[in-house]
Amino acid sequence: MKLRLTKIAIFLAALVPLARLGWKAVHGGLGANPIEFITHSTGDWTLILVLATLSITPLRRLTRQYWLIGVRRMVGLFAFFYGTLHFLTFIWLDKFFDVHEMLKDIAKRPFITVGFSAFVLMIPLALTSTTASIRRLGGQNWQRLHRLIYLTGILGVVHYLWLVKADRRKPLEYGAVLAILLLYRLVAWGLERRREPASISESRNAAEITKG
Ligand code: HEM
Repeated sequence: MKLRLTKIAIFLAALVPLARLGWKAVHGGLGANPIEFITHSTGDWTLILVLATLSITPLRRLTRQYWLIGVRRMVGLFAFFYGTLHFLTFIWLDKFFDVHEMLKDIAKRPFITVGFSAFVLMIPLALTSTTASIRRLGGQNWQRLHRLIYLTGILGVVHYLWLVKADRRKPLEYGAVLAILLLYRLVAWGLERRREPASISESRNAAEITKG
């Protein structure tokens, strides 16, 4: 019951940024440069939700609220959803589906190359997010593949750092959150390795995933 209600609350909350964009679009609130506004908003929410996905494991372990694993998939899929909107804003509203222009940008502007790589890495994660995929790949392989989310987070922060011209405070704040989450994982992994061989701790973690 708690999980169901939390899932409904997260689902509704995750749609708020999209609803806000829709509301602003209808009421002329997107400012002088609507494409820029949408790009910034969807980019921000992609990164926030990637970081939120990465926070769930530490949060559930620190608070001993183990049921939280059940919401991780949904939060991750919303990160992909906003990433897709962000990408669509770029290729549709910014480049008008001009593939040549788009490829030129990806190749020539390093921050776009990095953002594009971060997005591409999210695709296999979204495609293998189903319980059937976890079974097909096996918990351990699935877990290894899904560690790519860390790389998406790192590339997302670098993408943001490289695109800002002056004030680097916001990307650095995201970077600090990511660094704490990575550090937590490294320390937890080190402690687990000390306590039990890697294969046992990996299969225990894998068993936990299939519960979600
Ligand atoms: C498909 C690949 C992507 C492309 C083509 C792309 C492109 C862009 C562009 C053109 C901007 C605005 C730059 C400016 O105003 O000067 C931007 C901003 C941003 N992008 Fe991306 N991006 C991509 C993927 C991602 C991903 C995967 C993330 C997160 C993990 C991300 C996070 C952000 C953030 C946080 C911003 C800045 C938002 C703000 O200014 O508040 N982007 N992106």
